[in-house]
Amino acid sequence: MFDLAERMRRKEYTAKPLAGKSLAMIFMKASTRTRVSFEVGAWQLGGHALFLSPRDIQLGRGEPIADTARVLSRYVDGIMIRTFAQADVEELARSASVPVINGLTDLLHPCQVMADVLTMVQQFGTWEGKKVAWIGDGNNMANSWINAAYRLGFELSLACPEAYEPDPAVLQRAQRDGSSRVRVMRDPMEAVVDAHVVTTDVWASMGQEEEQQARARAFAGYSVGASLMARAARDAIFLHCLPAHRGEEVAASVIDGPQSRVWDEAENRLHVQKALMAILMGGE
Ligand code: CP
Ligand code: NVA
Repeated sequence: MFDLAERMRRKEYTAKPLAGKSLAMIFMKASTRTRVSFEVGAWQLGGHALFLSPRDIQLGRGEPIADTARVLSRYVDGIMIRTFAQADVEELARSASVPVINGLTDLLHPCQVMADVLTMVQQFGTWEGKKVAWIGDGNNMANSWINAAYRLGFELSLACPEAYEPDPAVLQRAQRDGSSRVRVMRDPMEAVVDAHVVTTDVWASMGQEEEQQARARAFAGYSVGASLMARAARDAIFLHCLPAHRGEEVAASVIDGPQSRVWDEAENRLHVQKALMAILMGGE
């Protein structure tokens, strides 16, 4: 999938495997990147995407997820969903007869991490032998980084404050072979040592807005600034899934500075998701 995405990024791929096909996109939360990159990506592959918000579809008035899945499966060739509970995505996938893509849940954000890994490939040529440092909340992005490290085998150190660690089941799976590739610690200064990628995310994710103040207190000391970047590898890059809060989880000098690759990272959403759709829906 990364090879195909890389060909797409280099504009070496011009096939239209989604000709005559449609992707339904259900958004129960806000989105800029996910919505636009899936919609434009489907169109570039010759297909079509439908934006469905809870205000527009009966799911928002209580129609069961399983019924929505069965009906959409009769019309479209794939479903992308962004929602709260991971269980809702899994229920949708169980009841749908077309592929279902997780466009972010409270637990995971796999499409974003695939874009982040493609950014590593773009920068370093590989993820092999690289070290990633995650600073801050053990949220959906942190969990998906753990899954990526588990699947692909790169080193990942996560610095999280107490009570904001990653999901225990996700972490346990990655650590079950007894390897120390994925480690959780408290001290951001320890996590970033020799890291090739330093990455973070907002302190309050979508749905946690009322916790913002308590979280700002808990995450004091977990800002990515110049001193943290100085402890990383000399050629380290900074990634952030965006949207970002400058002056909170990251200093403006870092996200807008020479080590930042956040705009390539955002662009790479388009390429990895096109590769994903070409494979899942277009027979690539
Ligand atoms: N990174 C990301 O998923 O952005 P959006 O919330 O804008 O889709
Ligand atoms: N952790 C963030 C990611 C946004 C793309 C959230 O869930 O709001």
